[in-house]
Amino acid sequence: MDSIKETNFKFPASTGFYKGKVRDVYYFKDKLAVVATDRISAFDVVLPRAIPYKGKVLNQIAAHFLQATSAIVPNWLELTPHPSVSIGKKCEPFAVEMVVRGYLAGHAWREYKAGKRVVCGEALPDGLKENDRLPYPIITPTTKAYKGHDEDISEQEIINQGIVSAEDYALLKKYTFALFEKGTQMAKERGLILVDTKYEFGKLDNKIYLIDEIHTPDSSRYFYAEGYEQRQAKEEAQRQLSKEFVREWLIANGFQGKEGQSVPEMTDEKVASITDRYIELYEHITGKKFEKSNYENRLAEIEKAIQNIFSNF
Ligand SMILES: Nc1ncnc2c1ncn2[C@@H]1O[C@H](COP(=O)(O)OP(=O)(O)O)[C@@H](O)[C@H]1O
Ligand SMILES: [Mg+2]
Repeated sequence: MDSIKETNFKFPASTGFYKGKVRDVYYFKDKLAVVATDRISAFDVVLPRAIPYKGKVLNQIAAHFLQATSAIVPNWLELTPHPSVSIGKKCEPFAVEMVVRGYLAGHAWREYKAGKRVVCGEALPDGLKENDRLPYPIITPTTKAYKGHDEDISEQEIINQGIVSAEDYALLKKYTFALFEKGTQMAKERGLILVDTKYEFGKLDNKIYLIDEIHTPDSSRYFYAEGYEQRQAKEEAQRQLSKEFVREWLIANGFQGKEGQSVPEMTDEKVASITDRYIELYEHITGKKFEKSNYENRLAEIEKAIQNIFSNF
């Protein structure tokens, strides 16, 4: 089964193109059409093989949560004319990613384990174990690097360096906590814990919008809620529902995105198992059944769906 590795559409009305790690973005003046491809990235590297259906899964999860949170924070999304496509407002992105954490996992845990007790300006108490719940959610922002790895940064540095104004940052913070609370509550209804996630924001006509994708397995970590406490008490690994399983497999095969390391070869079986996991994630997180249909002509369908919207643009 083939996957969508890239698109090469030529839309007469298009005003620009950006190839992200995962998504292909077509600009149309003050709008953009984002095609979620099946590319997968880990440790900021795009892996050689794409994962069938992954784009469709991601786009639909993001749309589900953007719709569910639109009353809390205005967001960019206006239309999903195809399960792999999102269309909406083109905003001027802030050069930070608002990472928010309710638990000590992933990068923050690695920093903590190395002895740090202040992460991105946030003080952490002694005596925490991996995956422990934090006393309260914290924001650990990163700079949005256009090449290479995103770097940790603190609120103070963001404001002092003029990356975001103090006034705008106050709103980004408020929105981030409100979204995380809603995401946490929606996860809970599905028997999940939203461990951490990241949001991107942008500006249009002097108004701040939530942009990009939210609460997807690529941008978030989820645990199964059932048995969480028992597993923590026994210091067992948590049951994850996120891209973490791909990262773990890569690490186990000697790849952490560092220079000189090469990506282990993914067999067809490995690729198929990742597809299955993404579909499981979709169904668990949204509570909806995933439709695999119409795979054969989807590139042409995606192109047509976008062209139809912008034919008179
Ligand atoms: N509404 C929007 N306005 C402007 N840029 C956006 C909007 N929504 C998403 N983006 C940008 O589109 C890109 C999506 O593709 P992605 O594969 O995530 O790229 P990247 O490798 O830059 O993370 C991101 O760079 C994201 O910041
Ligand atoms: Mg991205």
